Amino acid sequence: MNLMLRRPLIAGNWKMYKTVSEAVNTARELVGYAASASVDIMIAPPFTALASVAEIVSGTPVALGAQNLHWKDEGAYTGEISPVMLTDAGCQYVIIGHSERRQFFGETDDTVNAKIRAALAHKLIPVFCVGETEMQRESRETFSVLDKQMVKGLEGVPFNSESHLVVAYEPVWAIGTGKTATTDQIQEVHAFLRSLIDKRLDNPLAKSVRILYGGSVKPENASEIMNMPDVDGALVGGASLSAATFDRIIHF
Ligand code: 13P
Repeated sequence: MNLMLRRPLIAGNWKMYKTVSEAVNTARELVGYAASASVDIMIAPPFTALASVAEIVSGTPVALGAQNLHWKDEGAYTGEISPVMLTDAGCQYVIIGHSERRQFFGETDDTVNAKIRAALAHKLIPVFCVGETEMQRESRETFSVLDKQMVKGLEGVPFNSESHLVVAYEPVWAIGTGKTATTDQIQEVHAFLRSLIDKRLDNPLAKSVRILYGGSVKPENASEIMNMPDVDGALVGGASLSAATFDRIIHF
């Protein structure tokens, strides 16, 4: 981890868990723990809880993120949420292209690309997720799959000095399975992603892009993962749902 250039980010993706009151209670507890943390912290509650959690985390070290967005500002798109609505609700980050959205909700590299552009245009920080399936890893396609996701996802994305980007490497086979990638596997992929970013963004911005690892991160393995040279943080699912457990990760 390069602390000079990139302050670590530990992000909690709450997925489709927590009612509004549960989310508020967890956020309140987490704010207490977060005061002494030396990393950036983000939580992404479900849409229904964003506005209420925003009130709890506002002015604290905990930033708010959403789990998805639509690329248009508004329109007749039943069931969708726009970047304007997310910033209005208090979001600073938005998770884009999570493998569960790619797998179950028809997310493609093209929609991911449109969403990254929309997020940046609205000054939301995209947490751009990439990752290979178990079958792709077994057939040695990991790097070609990641290359395609990265190239297509970032195609034509206008970056400037104000843009911020976070990339999250989440091997699909390690999500919610208890199977964590080995630190060697993680470092190998992160170094590859960093070289792709350096090629794509040949300016100082490339050095500021944080690359998070996600997939069965828990208190027991957080410090080992976070200490890898090209790991700048973690995207945590299950272990972020309890503030006490997440606290042990943010204080890795
Ligand atoms: P788990 O930490 O539950 O494996 O989930 C990882 C993830 O998908 C975070 O976005």
